[in-house]
Parts: sequence; structure tokens; C-alpha cells
Amino acid sequence: MYELIVIGGGPGGCAAALRAAQGGLSVALFEPRQVGGTCLNRGCVPTKALLHGAGPGCDWPALAAEVERVVSTLRAGQEKQLRAAGVELIPYRAVVTGPHTVEAGGAAYEAAHILVAAGSEPALPPIPGLDTPGVVTSDGLLSDLRPLDRLAIIGGGVIGVELACVWAAAGARVTILEAAPRLLPTLERELGQSLAAQLRQDGVEVFTGAGVTGVAPGPAVAFTHRGEAYRLEADAVLVATGRRPATGGLFAGDLLPELERGFLRVDGQFRTSIPSLYAIGDAIGGAMLAHKAEAEGRFVADLLLGRTPLRGVAPIPACVYTSPELAQVGLTADEARARGIPCAAGKCVLGGNARTLIEGGKRGFVKLVFHRESRALLGAQLCCYRATDLISELALAVTLELTAEQLLRPVRPHPTFGEAISEAVEAAFPLS
Ligand code: NAI
Repeated sequence: MYELIVIGGGPGGCAAALRAAQGGLSVALFEPRQVGGTCLNRGCVPTKALLHGAGPGCDWPALAAEVERVVSTLRAGQEKQLRAAGVELIPYRAVVTGPHTVEAGGAAYEAAHILVAAGSEPALPPIPGLDTPGVVTSDGLLSDLRPLDRLAIIGGGVIGVELACVWAAAGARVTILEAAPRLLPTLERELGQSLAAQLRQDGVEVFTGAGVTGVAPGPAVAFTHRGEAYRLEADAVLVATGRRPATGGLFAGDLLPELERGFLRVDGQFRTSIPSLYAIGDAIGGAMLAHKAEAEGRFVADLLLGRTPLRGVAPIPACVYTSPELAQVGLTADEARARGIPCAAGKCVLGGNARTLIEGGKRGFVKLVFHRESRALLGAQLCCYRATDLISELALAVTLELTAEQLLRPVRPHPTFGEAISEAVEAAFPLS
């Protein structure tokens, strides 16, 4: 009998298991594949390693070996940390058989609490021909790293644009087919628009408002754009149109917590409709991001330890590791206005930022959105070098509801990208 059983060894499950065990609970973690989940093994980490290493004439076997070195180093570290904390790692797929029981590898296990952190898997849209050889999801593309002359990507979301950058940097002719009117439709408008302009400058073909009608052998993608029909031949077709919760087959018999569009429904404390059963991460929906899952995992662990959870409810930053990088946190000006919040927005264009010019400046900006009356920071949207690092300062400010005046108090060093933050604050509340 454990105090906590965690199902799924991705960032959320590992964070929860580690913190609960460090706090003194007896914990078992069930993971049939590799510890680290999608993020470490088939997602964020390999993609970022590829973005770092890909370039013209790149040596693909060496790059694949470097990705494997990074991933396996992190994975070994993660496993060591879990074992050192006393977490029992059980390498089987677990099925929840009751409010306090799971079955895995032919054995039954019991726990006071069960946490489902089962993650997500690529979702395929209803496009005919997706079973054609050469059509892959991100799992397939990342597990067989090789040069491609021509890569077609269905879906211009986060996975689509990041992997477009990898293969484009390595010299492939890349085409993105996005159904929505702009790339990255879930992010602030100008982020997707700026990225599309930059990608086009870098030689990537971008079709927004594209209607993919099918994939034929070749593979060749048939699509329509502004009333015209096109046929695009490629060495590989990447389908990156979103992910769905990996909750299928997780519950035995008629034991089924409430679901909403396949996602587990939870309350403000990540409890499902079965009181001893918690759920976090991609399996509950919202932003499907490693750091969201981690924050939620720590929250549940703290709750079970009887501590006041410190994390898990703050605004979740979103980062896109393209060139330039994109990042956002909190509300956009459009979202604030739609909620009837009076806002003041300030924008600093990075054309005059010394560090940007020194580093070969691509287009970029920092946008900040404030409450017009309280002057508290509501949100930030960044398109620039190091956006994914700069966003942490702004996530702190949004979380603590810092005001424009408070944001101007620290002296930001020169020459840095961060100076743009001071300028954007001043642009939101000009002196005259
Ligand atoms: P996504 O939801 O970000 O993007 C999917 C895109 O495909 C959308 O723009 C959508 O309009 C488009 N689409 C849907 N059906 C289509 C169709 N039939 N034809 C053409 N376009 C179509 O999903 P994505 O990129 O698959 O990523 C999955 C999840 O993984 C995301 O929720 C994301 O948060 C996460 N992720 C995060 C990363 C990061 O934080 N840097 C990196 C990669 C993934």
C-alpha cells in the first residue's frame, strides 16, 4: 500500500512523485516507456537540441548522436533523482481498477491517492490518405532523424513551426499548410504574423487559410488555397494538427471519472470526480506544456503533504523556439478588451536595441499590456532573440501583479535585450 501512485513519468508525473517522496510519502511511479515522457524523449528537448544544432550541410548522424546524448544524460539524471528520493519506478502500463487500486504487469497495487499524469499523443485530423507511407507525426519525424529535400507540414502550430525551422535551417524546402488565417492561431495575433513574414524571408513557404483535402502516394498533399487547387510532392509529410489526451484504456470496467472532450475533468485542486483520484498535465487539457504539468504536479504533491501549494495556479508562459523566438504570458490586449478590462499597451520595436543589432537583428518587438487604472501588468508578448528567457521576468511581474512603476525600478543592464522591457513600459504610459 503506497501513499501515492503516479501514472505517467513525464514532467508532471516526475515532478509530483519527486516532491511527494522528498516530503516523506511512499510513492510508486508507473511508466512503461522512458522516464521524461513526451517532453524529454519525443518533444521539447530533442526539438530544441535540433534547433540548436541544425544548419546548412549539417551532419545528420552526428546531430542525431548529439540529441541522444542530451536526452539520455537528462533521462539518467531524472531517474537517479527519483530513485534517490525513494520513488519506486515500475516499468509497466497501469490501469486504474478502483478508487485506490491499479493493475500493472499482471500485479495489483494499492494507494491512498492516485495521480493520473498520462499525457497526450498526436491527434490525426480526418484527412484521407494519412496512412500513406511517408506521412508522419512528430513522434515519427523525431525518431528517424535524416536530411529531407522537401518537407510538407500540415498544421502551423507550435510543433509545425519549430520543426519547419529545423529542416529549413538544414537546407530542406519546407512548406507549411495552416488551416487558420495565421500561424500559431492560439498566440497573440502579431506573433504568428511576424513569424510567417520571417519564415518566408528564410525561404519557407507558408500557406495560411489552406484546406488540405488529402494525401496521395508519393507522398503528395492536395490542398486548396484562395480557391486554387494545389498538389505538393514531398519526401515526408508531417501532420502536426494538435494532440489529444492519452486517457484511452486507462480505466477498467465501469470506473470512469468525468471527462470533457476526452480530457479528465478536475476541480481547482486537480481532483477528478473520484475523490482519491487526481489528474494533471496534458490529460486535463489547457496549455499542453511541460512546465504547466510540472507546476500542477508539485501543487498536488504539496496538497497531499499537507503544505500550502505555492505553485500551480500562476499564469502559464508559452514559448516558441523559432528564430526569432516567441513568448507570451497573461492576457493579450485583445483578450483584455474582450473582457471589458481597460488596458494600456506599450510596444518597443527592437530595431533600435543595441544588442539586437549586434547579434544580427531579425525583426522583433516587446509588447506589454497593463490595466489602465491600476497600471498592473496583465500580459506580455515577445518576438525577439532570447524571448523565451526574457519571459520569466514578465511571468514574475504578471504573477505578482507588478505595476508599471515597479517594473521601471530595476536598472536593466546595457546592452541587453531586456532594455526593451523598460522601453515598452514607458511606451504604455508616455510622459505626454
Ligand atoms: P497546436 O494546437 O499548437 O497547432 C495545431 C495547428 O494545426 C493549429 O494551428 C490548427 O489551426 C492547425 N490545423 C488543425 N487541423 C488542420 C488541418 N486539417 N489542416 C491544416 N491545419 C490544421 O498543436 P501542435 O503544434 O500539434 O502541438 C501540440 C501541443 O504540443 C500544443 O498544445 C503545444 O502547446 C505543445 N507543444 C509545445 C511546444 C513549446 O512549448 N515550444 C513545442 C511543441 C509542442
